[in-house]
Amino acid sequence: MTGDATRLPRDRAERAPAHGRHHAHVTGWGRYVPSQVLTNADLERMVDTNDEWITSRTGIRERRVAAAHETTASMGAVAGLRAIRTAGVSPDDVDLILLATLTPDYWMPSTAALVKEAIGNSRAAAMDVAAACSGFVYGLATGQAWIESGLARHVLVIGAELLTRFLDYSDRSTCILFGDGAGAVVLSASDEPGGALGVELTTEPQGAYMIWLPAGGSKSPPSAETIARGEHFIRMEGRETYRFATKTMATTALASIQKSGLTPDDVQLFIPHQANIRIIEAVAKGLDLPMDRMFTNVEKYGNTSAASIPIALAEAVNEGRLQVGDHVTLVAFGAGFTSGGITIEWTADPLRGPAGEAAVDPEAVHVRLPVDWDSVDPIPPALAAVMARPGPVDPPLDDVVPGEPEPAVLPLR
Ligand code: ACO
Repeated sequence: MTGDATRLPRDRAERAPAHGRHHAHVTGWGRYVPSQVLTNADLERMVDTNDEWITSRTGIRERRVAAAHETTASMGAVAGLRAIRTAGVSPDDVDLILLATLTPDYWMPSTAALVKEAIGNSRAAAMDVAAACSGFVYGLATGQAWIESGLARHVLVIGAELLTRFLDYSDRSTCILFGDGAGAVVLSASDEPGGALGVELTTEPQGAYMIWLPAGGSKSPPSAETIARGEHFIRMEGRETYRFATKTMATTALASIQKSGLTPDDVQLFIPHQANIRIIEAVAKGLDLPMDRMFTNVEKYGNTSAASIPIALAEAVNEGRLQVGDHVTLVAFGAGFTSGGITIEWTADPLRGPAGEAAVDPEAVHVRLPVDWDSVDPIPPALAAVMARPGPVDPPLDDVVPGEPEPAVLPLR
């Protein structure tokens, strides 16, 4: 199969398959996290908390903080390009860019539009997905639907968040939980069975004010008064959110597995939203599965909202936790209250991931800056001391050979 043969016609009217059905396979994956680390010990110096409380109640030991030059779009662009390189396609092969975030660069344009320009794509439709921590799963389900209907051949789905700029560092109940980062996948059409299978998405409006950011929207436009009242920071009813999450995650995962014609025993790996280790333990218990079937990295990054599942997926694949033929269930909950689950039959060579990651230098990816606009310093004052110290260097990827991965071959008859 040549690269050209895998392309759908660009005229949408010609895209629907004549017979059979397109399947949406994950062909690329990538992640990016900023280098600066905010530890529990750092937070002990900022608010009345301690490492023992944070670790025992949440499982979080540290989280990442974006540098002043970084944004949701810049992190999303790096993760997105890494996913594109892993898939072995070119940026211009992407028909649709979906970017899930609750921390966009601007209200408008969409952060997806900024990413589209930064990755060098000239033809994709681009839009953001607003479903908070469930956003990546909502985006994946949307990308799957575009592919199955024949509307798109390759879809880039990104989850990217810069939460540390929306936190009140005097509120110990929220500021300890969240961190920054981005992850992405490429979904590609194939007539071979496999890829994304059953989807379950729910939204329960009675949860609308359990996690919210009061000011800045049309209901309460930003003003000196809203800022003085701290209404530009994330607020959360922790206990109610915890109750919703532990009630919903296992049910949502199970519904997605059943819609895939499978049982939990058929699923080799679960990638739950990384909010709190106790919530993940409740998912395992609810599904009657051991914890070694749950992938966790919440201890390293905290809750990165829509970015948490794609970051975890990329790490899980690159660590050899998924092999061709395995089933993986992604399951999230978040503000709204939203929840989403999607089960995938894994069909990509896991060894492609490290080369795709090494092929993209974050310093070489640029999001265009606005003209004639002097920005303010974006680093919250409470984090200034942390950001002033030298950041750790990311582990070297010496054991992989950087360069252009071979194109992924997918049959499309
Ligand atoms: N350090 C020390 N003590 C603290 C801290 C802290 N950082 N935060 C709260 N406490 C105190 C509280 O004041 C309270 O003290 P009190 O008993 O004297 O009143 C005590 O610890 C217990 O507080 P709880 O809120 O009951 O603690 P809980 O065990 O519920 O844990 C937590 C709190 C971790 C926030 C938990 O409720 C949780 O994980 N909830 C889910 C949050 C979540 O996942 N949100 C993400 C949503 S996704 C999205 O869309 C953004």
